[in-house]
Amino acid sequence: MEQNTRSVEGLGIRPGVRGKTGIALVRLPGSSRSSGLERDVRRGFSGPRKQLPPKYFYDARGSLLFERICGTPEYYPTRTESVLLARHARGILDQVAPGTLVEIGSGSSEKTGHFFAACERLGLHVRYQPFDVCDEALRAAAARLRARYAWLDMELLVGDYAVDLPALPYSEGPRLFLFLGGTIGNLNHDEALNFLAALHGAMRAEDFLLLGFDRVKEKAVLDAAYNDAQGFTAQFNLNLLKVLNARLDADFEERHFAHVAFFNEGEGQIEMHLRARRAHEVTMSRIDLVTRFTEGETILTEISRKFTPEGMRALLEAAGFRWRRHEEADNSYFSLALATPA
Ligand code: SAH
Ligand code: TRP
Repeated sequence: MEQNTRSVEGLGIRPGVRGKTGIALVRLPGSSRSSGLERDVRRGFSGPRKQLPPKYFYDARGSLLFERICGTPEYYPTRTESVLLARHARGILDQVAPGTLVEIGSGSSEKTGHFFAACERLGLHVRYQPFDVCDEALRAAAARLRARYAWLDMELLVGDYAVDLPALPYSEGPRLFLFLGGTIGNLNHDEALNFLAALHGAMRAEDFLLLGFDRVKEKAVLDAAYNDAQGFTAQFNLNLLKVLNARLDADFEERHFAHVAFFNEGEGQIEMHLRARRAHEVTMSRIDLVTRFTEGETILTEISRKFTPEGMRALLEAAGFRWRRHEEADNSYFSLALATPA
């Protein structure tokens, strides 16, 4: 692992800052964003319903677009969860007394700031291990956090949470694991169960998990959240085609696809698709693959499942967790669950 660990350029030790606060970046085995891309594309385009895993959205541009989505008036999850974290960060820190915060799918780490602000007020100097598939997002987040919380000791982990949880580098506990933003909903039932079981296996008895999950609610509110009027969600969805063009030397044309997202009430999930506006074919030269689209055919690019507290509790318990605490927004739009391994 040694050769995979290095200081982040330009963010190393600054004059007056103790060595302890240098920022390291560790590449876990699943870190190559393209790892598995060829396999996922071949598999995803071969069945009757085309689909791709969502991790490929998040190149540098995708992560920036996601931040734009989070700032739109329609996308209530970010601000709702942020209010919950502001309200409960202190109480959660009291309960957990963490030595380290490990955040899975940390993105901009924006909301996590509520914990660091509370730590500062308590004089508690935690360590932070943000874990994300997008190293540009990790670096940008670390630079912002460094400017605001000079005392924060950070180790950036680049990896894939579907495979790298058993390989998390050691950090002092108790550890508070964060999985925020409703990202658990981007996994189907089996994937979520596997993910939680792997996380459970990586946790020590003293650790806690704080899970942010989005709630079932009126279809109109959900549909709007994934169809913002400024079109950032559409750009984000279409960005997947740019990623495929760049990585696979493919000739997807954005103008031949439309963004489609809707709440499927039967399944309890948002489904996001790219719909072919007309029949055409696309060549992916690097992997020597041609795929045909009929008019109206879609690629399922993301699901975002919505939960009831009872449903989430059952899922956590099925993975071996014990449900310890539940905090919800005043309008019940979003929840935080605190769980322990046993
Ligand atoms: N936690 C942030 C970001 C949520 S978006 C928030 O609440 O706003 C989901 C994040 O998970 C993105 O930053 C994305 O890069 C990351 N991600 C997606 N798939 C991943 C995977 N397989 N492994 C690790 N990170 C992943
Ligand atoms: N975890 C976020 C969610 O499910 C991810 C997300 C939000 C998203 N908006 C999106 C993913 C639009 C794809 C497209 O809400």
